[in-house]
Amino acid sequence: MIWFLSCETSDRHLNTFLGPQQFDLNEVNMKELIKQAAEDLAAAGKVTALTGAGISIESGIPPFRGKGGLWERFDPMEIAHIDALMRDPAKVWTILVKEMKEIVDTAVPNDGHKGLAKLEEMGKLKTVITQNIDGLHQAAGNTDVIEFHGTFAWQRCMDCSREYETSKVDISEIPPRCSCGGILRPDAVFFGEMIPQEALWRSRQIAFDCDLMLVVGTSAVVQPAALMPVIAKENGAKVVEINPERTPLTDEISDYLITGGAGDVMNQIIEKLEQIS
Ligand code: OAD
Repeated sequence: MIWFLSCETSDRHLNTFLGPQQFDLNEVNMKELIKQAAEDLAAAGKVTALTGAGISIESGIPPFRGKGGLWERFDPMEIAHIDALMRDPAKVWTILVKEMKEIVDTAVPNDGHKGLAKLEEMGKLKTVITQNIDGLHQAAGNTDVIEFHGTFAWQRCMDCSREYETSKVDISEIPPRCSCGGILRPDAVFFGEMIPQEALWRSRQIAFDCDLMLVVGTSAVVQPAALMPVIAKENGAKVVEINPERTPLTDEISDYLITGGAGDVMNQIIEKLEQIS
């Protein structure tokens, strides 16, 4: 909805005259958008969600980009590319995987994940397409989660493909090894690798078929995941973004952006949706 964007601009403009202490128009704007999202969800038949690292920040898992992001500290081509893993698995384990294991092993779902699980419980949301590998959507209670970039819950032997549950892998020696002697690697997608075919195929179908896509906590710069809202939009769905920042989707694809953290925004949407349904 182009009208909303111009409305947002004029709100900001007005704020400079009125002063936030007199009347916080951003707050009003946010409330209107929450109400709009609840109404859109109530009206939609098939709702899906695309999530990214931003939804897990409130669970203590750092994002990739932006302030405090992993790629601020490390070059992804040095530690998250398949060539880097093949060249020096011990380095990738030491810098990236070990730290991720320590964080993901103990992370629990936050209100953002719980909100999406609640939407499923309310019969609104069926599938979550996530770029995250932390398993927190499943832990929150969503039962149909497409792990677009694979999962960190399992490690796979690079020689014999035997799988091990990550939380049970002993990391006293890096890199950890399979009983066959092969090196273990996360069952997640590294840069330069293919998206799991079933995940890609199902995600495209679901994006094509939905009436409303919630896009939560993704910078929407990594392909082909960022194409899913485009497919949804091109096939007539509403696209509703929840993110404290604008993304490349915001102007061209999203109907509107609810500017805020996933937990707080999801709580408010659920509260409103419960009032009207
Ligand atoms: P990014 O780290 O690129 O983006 C995180 C997004 O979350 C940003 O747009 C932030 O503005 C937003 N954000 C920050 N705090 C938030 C909050 N409290 N609630 C909601 N959103 C918040 O993460 P992704 O878009 O998931 O791929 O990154 C995509 C892919 O790039 C990842 O799956 C990973 C990475 O390289 C692979 O490793 C293959």
